[in-house]
Amino acid sequence: MVEISSFLRSILLLSSCLIWRGVEGQMLGEYGGRQRVRARQNNGNNGQKDTSAFNIVNGRILTPGLGIILAPQPFTPMGGDFLHVALDVSGDGKLPVPPQNTDDPLTQIFNTTLFLTSNALGKNFTISNITTTTPPFANIMMQESGQTVKHINFEWPDCLVGDNNKDDLATTARGDYNVSIHQNYRLNGTNFYTIFNLPISVTNSISQFPGANQLLTKPPPGPLNANGGRMNCDMISNPMMDFSALVASVNNPPGQPFQDFGIATSQRNDGGQVGGNGKGGGGGQGQGQGQGQGIGNNPNGGQGALGASNAGVKRETGAVLNVVGMVGLVVLGSMVGW
Ligand SMILES: *[C@@H]1O[C@H](CO)[C@@H](O)[C@H](O)[C@H]1NC(C)=O
Ligand SMILES: *[C@@H]1O[C@H](CO)[C@@H](O)[C@H](O)[C@H]1NC(C)=O
Ligand SMILES: *[C@@H]1O[C@H](CO)[C@@H](O)[C@H](O)[C@H]1NC(C)=O
Ligand SMILES: *[C@@H]1O[C@H](CO)[C@@H](O)[C@H](O)[C@H]1NC(C)=O
Ligand SMILES: *[C@@H]1O[C@H](CO)[C@@H](O)[C@H](O)[C@H]1NC(C)=O
Repeated sequence: MVEISSFLRSILLLSSCLIWRGVEGQMLGEYGGRQRVRARQNNGNNGQKDTSAFNIVNGRILTPGLGIILAPQPFTPMGGDFLHVALDVSGDGKLPVPPQNTDDPLTQIFNTTLFLTSNALGKNFTISNITTTTPPFANIMMQESGQTVKHINFEWPDCLVGDNNKDDLATTARGDYNVSIHQNYRLNGTNFYTIFNLPISVTNSISQFPGANQLLTKPPPGPLNANGGRMNCDMISNPMMDFSALVASVNNPPGQPFQDFGIATSQRNDGGQVGGNGKGGGGGQGQGQGQGQGIGNNPNGGQGALGASNAGVKRETGAVLNVVGMVGLVVLGSMVGW
């Protein structure tokens, strides 16, 4: 079965490339002025943003949970119509996503909620809290069916409207925020709850009336008020939790799930080769036909890929490889969302 796993591996590799291209393609809206990154928490790093406290691999931000943040990057100054977050929920390609069954006694995501918070400003806005079926309040696992990357498009609420000038900071709630990501999940049979804070600055221009073209974005940005405009901040505000209470509430894993350990998933037996290996023997006469029949003409009744057997010699027939190919295609198809 060595051939099978390396084949599946290359398919997985191929499909993750496709997914990456898909992500770039769906990146609607803009972060705005990426070049004007402000110095912050820079450890004397002279005007450069210091992301050393973050675990970033190829632009993917590893969290203490199974979710991997693809966007935004830490300390990005943001504005525009809405906040765009892209989160890989497939456990780096290892976990199934709905509509596939995600139940696994070893490793699975239970739920993920997001808030936009600022300690200094005392703000805690709901981004996604599994309340309605409409994004972004919806359960992100259930949106964009089949996609391993979930896109959360949070319409900036009205108190964040303003231009890139200092006066606004006094009269609005603009300033530094965290995209705070709460993850409930199971890893190798143990349940964990983590909070990850991704710092951004809400300092780029946000206009009172967002452009109509944002409606082309999928999933559609929200929440919106009854008139289709920006939400009143009070409508999506939550109480601030004391920081030490937040710290006390989490139950972190012993290390980063992908980087420090790797994750274990249950073996699935609902696919792959049907039946055990066929009987060998027959002086090698059943070999090398290349017909893909799976029924060798071996004299003692070997049954190829179908049917169980406890006889010794292993034969990889054309039929077996066909089945493998189909499994690979199914995997590829489900990952690119055919
Ligand atoms: C998230 O999952 C945890 C663990 O299963 C559960 O206790 C909690 O109620 C869930 N929260 C939501 C909002 O569904
Ligand atoms: C973001 O969260 C970190 C802790 O994770 C905290 O130190 C920082 O002050 C927070 N930033 C804001 C703007 O609240
Ligand atoms: C989710 O957030 C919205 C907006 O802040 C709030 O109205 C709702 O009560 C919240 N739902 C839950 C279950 O906390
Ligand atoms: C923000 O509100 C949510 C929902 O009440 C809560 O779970 C979370 O801990 C709060 N975050 C902060 C930083 O207070
Ligand atoms: C999960 O299980 C895998 C495979 O047994 C192991 O390599 C890994 O270290 C485990 N991870 C944790 C966090 O225990």
